[in-house]
Amino acid sequence: MSSTAPVTDPGDPRVDDYRDLHDARARRRMERPGDDGPGFFVAEGRHALQRLLASGRRIRSVLVDRIRLETLGADLAGLDAPVLLADQPTLRAVAGFPVHRGVLAAADRWPLPDPSAVLAAARRVAVLEDINDHENLGVIFRSAGSLGLDAVLLSPRCCDPLYRRSVRVSMGHVLGVPWTRLEPWPEAIAVVRQAGFSLAALTPAADAEPLAGWAPAPGERVALLLGAEGPGLSPAVLAVADRRLTIPMRAPADSLNVGSAAAIAFYALTATNAPKTPIAPSASSTSSAAISTK
Ligand SMILES: C[S@@+](CC[C@H](N)C(=O)[O-])C[C@H]1O[C@@H](n2cnc3c(N)ncnc32)[C@H](O)[C@@H]1O
Repeated sequence: MSSTAPVTDPGDPRVDDYRDLHDARARRRMERPGDDGPGFFVAEGRHALQRLLASGRRIRSVLVDRIRLETLGADLAGLDAPVLLADQPTLRAVAGFPVHRGVLAAADRWPLPDPSAVLAAARRVAVLEDINDHENLGVIFRSAGSLGLDAVLLSPRCCDPLYRRSVRVSMGHVLGVPWTRLEPWPEAIAVVRQAGFSLAALTPAADAEPLAGWAPAPGERVALLLGAEGPGLSPAVLAVADRRLTIPMRAPADSLNVGSAAAIAFYALTATNAPKTPIAPSASSTSSAAISTK
């Protein structure tokens, strides 16, 4: 680990990457790519930090309180970035909220990969239309990473997976599960079909096929399409799907939260192609042996 540097003044420019973390609009302005680089994002909490370290992305700095530094010592060994040490009142003054998780890390964004390249290496993917809630997006990524989806593809109006709250709620899986955007929308869904995927739309519609009765054919490459809270999948997307799948509910007029629906559907998709040897509990929730399950 590079030696730690104490920060006692909230105005210290070394912690500029961590200001106004609760303000999504301000953060969008601060984090976007510019002439000076690819932009950056902030990961919060130990799981996110561990997945960030495992991802190999360039880390700009780590900002940590003393308690967390003691537990993170081994994780930070070999880190080639400043480790800034602050007490909780200073962290709070910089971030704008109490940083209970005790650790933040700033890292470079990266150019999004071409969808065809992402799909070439994938067999089971999620396609998300206009998911504009950072927590729902984080929940979906957490399930995608934990249950073994190969990639997540986002419509242009989905919110930013690298916004701090998405990174935290995803437990850092936004840094492990390959993702990119499909543009223009919805025309670019054709790229998914051309890559050999069948398109299965998840909908609460009572006349759709029950999910429990469905299983992908052996070797079938499947894209699960999920829509936003409120509108759900648009008619244009439903129209291009090969099938509509539903998780039957007691009250047919209701719907599930999209994160809950995604978890159930991801399980239905991946359980039918489960590996022959059982997965150890810790391995199923990590993309790296270095990631703690605590
Ligand atoms: C809150 S729902 C949207 C509800 C919207 N009124 C509709 O009819 O689709 C958000 C997304 O979660 C998924 N979803 C929610 N409940 C579902 C269910 N019972 N079966 C399958 N998918 C569901 C769908 O992908 C949906 O687009």
